[in-house]
Amino acid sequence: MRKLISRLALRALLAAVFSVPPAIAFAQQESTRLDVPFVPTPMPVVDAMLELGEVGAEDILYDLGSGDGRIVVQAAKRFGTQGTGVDLDPERISEARARAAAADVEDRARFMQADLFEFDFSDATVVTMYLLPSVNLKLRPRILDELQPGTRIVSNSFDMGDWEPDKTRQVGMNTVYLWVVPAKVAGDWAWTVENGESNHEYRVSLQQEYQQVGGRAFIDGEPARLEEAYLEGDALRLAIASPDGSEPVRFEGRLEDGRLVGVVRSEEQEVAWRAEPVSSDQG
Ligand SMILES: C[S@@+](CC[C@H](N)C(=O)[O-])C[C@H]1O[C@@H](n2cnc3c(N)ncnc32)[C@H](O)[C@@H]1O
Repeated sequence: MRKLISRLALRALLAAVFSVPPAIAFAQQESTRLDVPFVPTPMPVVDAMLELGEVGAEDILYDLGSGDGRIVVQAAKRFGTQGTGVDLDPERISEARARAAAADVEDRARFMQADLFEFDFSDATVVTMYLLPSVNLKLRPRILDELQPGTRIVSNSFDMGDWEPDKTRQVGMNTVYLWVVPAKVAGDWAWTVENGESNHEYRVSLQQEYQQVGGRAFIDGEPARLEEAYLEGDALRLAIASPDGSEPVRFEGRLEDGRLVGVVRSEEQEVAWRAEPVSSDQG
């Protein structure tokens, strides 16, 4: 009895979130043990997803649960993007391959029958999806741990729990979400800035939750003001000022091979900046 009730509840949930008749949604899901039934993203929403993700010719795109292949094929047609669609349902794969052939983009749009939870998409620069909140949440650790910082994730309709999107766009009834995979910058970093005769030792202790970064800063061992800490992908901006009210020094860098590397800007000059990770009990 309990099983029947939970099946009926799942059927109602699928029907409600995808606005399709319950019988169709449930039959599709049952037939191949799909985690999500096939409901195509409307083409204006496909275009908005590609635009929000700033998809281009240089990208490597994966559509997880690719349905009839419309996202991968449209990216190949509009931008020349190399894309892969992954779907568990063999019928969808056949439809998607036919769509790619009809659009003459078979060289850029490939379709693989596979379970998205087992498929390796770690070389992606853009990932698109129209799945379910629970499926997004199950994918989230892999997205954060396996994808390169800077990879864009674009989802139709469903969010990523407490990982706030970097951008959203409304297209009719659909909300499109964009996240940029953040580099892992939490921890303590130290560096020296040479300024003519005087050198200054900088140190920051950064905390991070997804792309949100904050923490404490020190100059020459004294507490300083961390006025800005902004992370986008692997690019980090810090503005640090001494407590005497002087102008902050602005650091812009990228996480490269475990170091923060970039430039420090002041009104007079721009010099190289290189921060090393240090353990919290060090110096
Ligand atoms: C809502 S449709 C989205 C189709 C397409 N991405 C679009 O936006 O038009 C979800 C797709 O995910 C596929 N799917 C469901 N569970 C899957 C799984 N575990 N692995 C791969 N594909 C899956 C379904 O077959 C269906 O085609």
